[in-house]
Amino acid sequence: MSDRLAGKVAFITGAARGQGRAHAVRMANEGADIIAIDIAGPLPPSVPYDSATPDDLAETVRLVEATGRGIVAAAADTRDLDALRAVVDKGVAQFGRLDIIIANAGITVPEAWNETTPESFRDVIDINLTGTWNTVMAGAQHIIDGGRGGSIILISSAAGIKMQPFMVHYTASKHGVTGLARAFAAELGKHRIRVNSLHPGAVNTPMGTGDMMAALNRANETNPGLMQMVTPFLPDFIAEPEDIADAACWLASDESRFVTASRVAVDLGATQF
Ligand SMILES: NC(=O)c1ccc[n+]([C@@H]2O[C@H](COP(=O)([O-])OP(=O)(O)OC[C@H]3O[C@@H](n4cnc5c(N)ncnc54)[C@H](O)[C@@H]3O)[C@@H](O)[C@H]2O)c1
Repeated sequence: MSDRLAGKVAFITGAARGQGRAHAVRMANEGADIIAIDIAGPLPPSVPYDSATPDDLAETVRLVEATGRGIVAAAADTRDLDALRAVVDKGVAQFGRLDIIIANAGITVPEAWNETTPESFRDVIDINLTGTWNTVMAGAQHIIDGGRGGSIILISSAAGIKMQPFMVHYTASKHGVTGLARAFAAELGKHRIRVNSLHPGAVNTPMGTGDMMAALNRANETNPGLMQMVTPFLPDFIAEPEDIADAACWLASDESRFVTASRVAVDLGATQF
């Protein structure tokens, strides 16, 4: 690694596992101290895959500390703005600054349009969209106060550029995240804060555990042709969390200093099919 984030501090949500953990470990390896939160407990009942645990979050702490960097970690729900503010304030008090925000926490629920319930629609929007807004609101003023500018990365999805079949709520929430990035980029630009949305295609994370594949297959049977809409151009079907962390690290670093309000896709071409 290259120390390209040396001396910086990154606030990362959904950091107990999957992509969030990869972002935390990668950024620590590049010299950043980390403020990490995760719900680290049960996800809403409509979510078909396994929930993260306190042990998962503890493992992220262990991996970050093994790099030699510091980490402030806590269990918190991105739907709770006060809880996020408390953790970020504590981290900034300890590390002295904030430079980077990665709003990564999110859920998905595969279900056909007419099986979607008011509860699952609300949960997906609350976590993926309002939780992302809360994450920016908890941290942005600290970046402004530092007077050095910074980078905010909102994790959307291929579903936030094109769409994801059998996920009306997820597609709407991830398009909303794209809009948040552009709107924040406009207002925060005068502080030299860049805001971009990052759009992974399929990624190999615990989102694929539990009953996820069965739920996807069930939804797919209602309209089988639609799954072809997200066919990648590259022969690999799925990326690793570290591939997304590479892109996040670039967006966090000065190498992308004139990139803002952009939609950065790491989707093997799937959104262009
Ligand atoms: N895996 C994929 O194929 C894929 C593709 C495109 C986009 N994404 C997006 O990438 C992001 C990371 O997902 P992942 O693949 O690492 O999945 P994951 O389920 O492994 O990780 C998500 C983490 O977010 C946490 N989380 C969920 N709701 C939370 C809340 N309300 N408050 C705090 N933490 C919460 C979970 O506990 C979990 O640790 C998500 O926003 C997801 O929508 C994933």
